[in-house]
Amino acid sequence: MLSALRMTQALAAATFFLSVIFGFAHASPDVTLRARDAYETTCEQIKQAISSASDVYFPLEFQYGRDIAHWAVSSTNFGAACSVEPGTAQDVGIILQILGNTTTPFAVKGGGHASNPGWSSTPGVQIAMSRFGGVNYDPTAQTAEIGAGLIWDDVYAALEPFAVNVVGGRVTGVGVAGFTLGGGYSWKTNQYGLTIDTAEAFELVLPNGTVSTITQSSYPDLFFGLKGGFNNFDIVTKFTLQTFPQTEVWVCRYYYHYNFLLGQPGVSQLLFYDYPTPPDGIFDDFLAIPHFTEDVSTRSFSSLVLSSPANATAGYRAIFHTVSLLQYSPSLIEAILNETTFWGERLSFASGTFISYDVEPFLPSLFSHASSSSAAYPPTRSQGLLPLNIYYAWGLEAADDLMHASARQSAAQLTQVAVAEGQDVADAPLYGNYAIFDTPLSRIYGDNLATLQSLKAKYDPGNVMGLAGGWKL
Ligand SMILES: Cc1cc2nc3c(=O)[nH]c(=O)nc-3n(C[C@H](O)[C@H](O)[C@H](O)COP(=O)(O)OP(=O)(O)OC[C@H]3O[C@@H](n4cnc5c(N)ncnc54)[C@H](O)[C@@H]3O)c2cc1C
Ligand SMILES: *[C@@H]1O[C@H](CO)[C@@H](O)[C@H](O)[C@H]1NC(C)=O
Ligand SMILES: *[C@@H]1O[C@H](CO)[C@@H](O)[C@H](O)[C@H]1NC(C)=O
Ligand SMILES: *[C@@H]1O[C@H](CO)[C@@H](O)[C@H](O)[C@H]1NC(C)=O
Ligand SMILES: *[C@@H]1O[C@H](CO)[C@@H](O)[C@H](O)[C@H]1NC(C)=O
Repeated sequence: MLSALRMTQALAAATFFLSVIFGFAHASPDVTLRARDAYETTCEQIKQAISSASDVYFPLEFQYGRDIAHWAVSSTNFGAACSVEPGTAQDVGIILQILGNTTTPFAVKGGGHASNPGWSSTPGVQIAMSRFGGVNYDPTAQTAEIGAGLIWDDVYAALEPFAVNVVGGRVTGVGVAGFTLGGGYSWKTNQYGLTIDTAEAFELVLPNGTVSTITQSSYPDLFFGLKGGFNNFDIVTKFTLQTFPQTEVWVCRYYYHYNFLLGQPGVSQLLFYDYPTPPDGIFDDFLAIPHFTEDVSTRSFSSLVLSSPANATAGYRAIFHTVSLLQYSPSLIEAILNETTFWGERLSFASGTFISYDVEPFLPSLFSHASSSSAAYPPTRSQGLLPLNIYYAWGLEAADDLMHASARQSAAQLTQVAVAEGQDVADAPLYGNYAIFDTPLSRIYGDNLATLQSLKAKYDPGNVMGLAGGWKL
C-alpha cells in the first residue's frame, strides 16, 4: 500500500487521439467600415496618451502580427484595428479609460492559448500583455511574483536555479494569465491544488484606471472573484504565487495503438512522478500495456514541459470542450475510445482533423487544498471533479459549426455514459478554460454566479470589461 504522500506525487495522464491533418484557412474580418474608422481613431488616441514604455502597432507591422497571434488560428481576429503593448500598469489604466469612454471593443491577451474564438481577440484594440515579464522569487515568503505576460515555460526556467516551482501549466506555450484566472490544473495539483489555491496576490488595473494589489486581506471579495473569474473585473498585471520545492521529476511517455479498420486511434500515455525516482512498482499496471515506444527519463520539470508536443497542432482551427467526472471506470475509457473512433471517422471526411480526448485522472482530493468559499471556481468542493478535455483541431473555417456541434454532442454522450454508471455529474460544474463558448455561466460558476455578478457591478460599474470577449458576467 502506497503512502498518501506518494500517491499525490503521481499522475498518469492519457490522450486518445485520431489524426488526419491538412492545411488551414484564415478567418475574415467582419466589421463595417464606419466601425473600423472609429476603432482606428481610438488607436490614435491611445497612441497619443500612453507613455514611452508602451507602443501601438498597426496591420503589416511585425509586432502587430505577433500581438494578435494565438495557438489556435480560429482564436485570432485578423481584423483588429491595432495592437497595443502596454509597458506599465498606469498605461493599462489610461488605455482602459479610453476604451471605456469610446466603447471600443478590445481584447486582453496573455499567452494566447484561449480555445474559444473571441476570448482574447477582437475587431477593435488588441492589448498584448507581453511587456509584463519578470519572475521575482522571495525565498523568505516562499512566493514568486510573476508578470502577466509570461508563459509558464519562462516561469519554470527562472525558478529552476532556486530548486523551487509553482503550480502551473503542463505543456509548452500556455500563458500564466488565462490559465491562472480560470483555475489551473497542473502536474502538481494532486499535491497542492489548483493554481488559484496557491495565489497570494494579484496586481491589477481597474477599469477606472486605479492600480491595486488584491490580497485576501485588502480586497477579500475581489480576491475570491479573480480565482476563476477571468477578465470580468480588471486587467491583471502581476500574480504572486506560492512556491514549493522542486527536484528533478520522473517521466515515462509511451504510445500504443488500437487496431482499427479505418483510422488508427492512438493512445499517448504520460506517467509523471514528482521526484527523481518513483516508488518500486507504482506504475507496473500501466507499463504492462503492450506499447510501441517508451521514453523513460529523470529530467528537470522545465524540460518535461518543453518536450510536450503541444505545438505540433498549433496554427490549426481548434475547439475545446469538457466533461466533469468523478472517476474513470473501464467502461468510461471504452466509451472515450469509441468517441475517438466515431468522431475521427465521421469528421475526417469533412475537413482534416485531430480528434483527441485527454484523460486526466487527478485524485478525488484535488479540491481539498482550499476552502469551498475561497474561489469563484469551482463553485463547490464537496467532491473532486476530474476535467476530461475534448480537443478537436481542423483546417477549414467552413467546418467550424460541424466541429463545435460534434464536440458538444460528444460531451453530452460521455456525460450520459457517466451518469448511466452512477456518477452524479449531469449538472456538475465545468472548467471555464476547457468549456465551449456557449456553455451557460451557471455551469461554470454554479451558486457563485449571483455573487460574481454583484462583484462585477461593484468593480466595473460601466461594464468596460464587457467590451472584451470571454465568460461575461
Ligand atoms: C495546448 C494547451 C494546453 C493546455 N493545458 C492546460 C492545462 O494543463 N491545465 C489547464 O488548466 N488548462 C490548460 N489549458 C487551457 C488554458 O488554461 C487556457 O487556454 C488559458 O486561458 C490560457 O491562458 P493564456 O493566457 O495563454 O490565454 P489568452 O488567450 O491570452 O487568455 C485567455 C483569457 O484570459 C484573459 N486574460 C489574459 N490575460 C489577462 C490579464 N492579464 N488580465 C485579465 N484577463 C486576462 C483573456 O482576455 C482571455 O479571456 C491548455 C490550453 C492549451 C491550448
Ligand atoms: C474618460 O471620460 C471621463 C469622463 O467623461 C474623463 O474624466 C476622462 O478624462 C476620460 N479619460 C480618458 C483617458 O479619455
Ligand atoms: C511553442 O510555441 C510557443 C509560442 O506560442 C513558444 O513560445 C514556445 O517556445 C514553443 N515551444 C517549443 C518547445 O518550441
Ligand atoms: C459510440 O459513440 C456513438 C457516438 O456518441 C454512439 O452513438 C454509439 O452508441 C457508441 N457505441 C457504443 C458501442 O458505445
Ligand atoms: C476606482 O474603483 C475602485 C473600486 O470601485 C474604487 O475603490 C476607487 O476609488 C476608484 N478610483 C477612482 C479614481 O475613481
